[in-house]
Amino acid sequence: MSGMHEDSVALVTGAGSGIGRAAAEIFAREGARVVVADRNAEAGNETVEIIRKAGGDAAFSLTDVSDEASVAAMVKFAVDTYGALDSAMNNAGISDAQDSFHEMGLDVWERMVGINLTGVFLCMKHEIVQMLSQEAQDGRRGAIVNTASGAGIVPAPGQPHYTAAKHGVLGLTKVAAAEYYTRGIRANAICPGITDTPMLREAIRRNPESEEPLLATVPGNTPGRPEDVAGSAVWLCSEGARWVNGQSLIVDGGGVMR
Ligand SMILES: NC(=O)c1ccc[n+]([C@@H]2O[C@H](COP(=O)([O-])OP(=O)(O)OC[C@H]3O[C@@H](n4cnc5c(N)ncnc54)[C@H](O)[C@@H]3O)[C@@H](O)[C@H]2O)c1
Repeated sequence: MSGMHEDSVALVTGAGSGIGRAAAEIFAREGARVVVADRNAEAGNETVEIIRKAGGDAAFSLTDVSDEASVAAMVKFAVDTYGALDSAMNNAGISDAQDSFHEMGLDVWERMVGINLTGVFLCMKHEIVQMLSQEAQDGRRGAIVNTASGAGIVPAPGQPHYTAAKHGVLGLTKVAAAEYYTRGIRANAICPGITDTPMLREAIRRNPESEEPLLATVPGNTPGRPEDVAGSAVWLCSEGARWVNGQSLIVDGGGVMR
């Protein structure tokens, strides 16, 4: 049986952990050769090992998505290693301790926005340049999916910077979707709900009192599994989603409905 992404090349940022790792594994299972990008080399190489052990093809790119030269090198690495870039999942992100809006330092704001919003912009920019340079196959040159959040739709308490960055990711997604669809590139976003990843565990460790209200945002008070979120992202990059463009897919078991 052939997979959704046979004979194609996928790139996933933040693929050393959580949702990104799960997406890299699913892309590989569906037939893609996968570039695993992360700023954590040990974690990224571990993802590559997991994929190779399962019979897939993957390579690691040490990348900081908030640094344009690093992002440009990541896209070049994908093309040098595997010859093209068909799917790109811009997923790397950070969370932060809760802070009140009026006490937030500019440095805290800038660090968050630099990774969670500017990072997505930089990745999209360089991915689009590459995709536009590729010959269209049946009118299509590539697909992008960005990881936003439920906080891209509704506010996350104590997280003005995270909320603003994730709302911004949906804006970037829509602009690219509108500008590039007729040139063969689709762009969509996923908005995960509370998902059981190292990021979530760290947030709860930092602030144990946040666990109950966080879990209350998902039906059954149960966090999603990384693979449950990642599967939707991988599908959005596939042929089956060829007429899905500029959408923000909420993947949270129905916690937020808009
Ligand atoms: N876990 C959740 O509940 C949840 C909910 C909504 C949205 N999200 C979003 O999903 C995405 C993935 O989150 P996760 O929960 O899997 O987190 P995670 O912390 O488990 O994984 C994030 C990965 O991104 C990498 N990373 C961080 N900054 C980077 C940078 N500057 N350059 C390159 N890599 C970088 C980290 O090293 C890590 O491997 C994030 O964008 C996050 O905001 C997560």
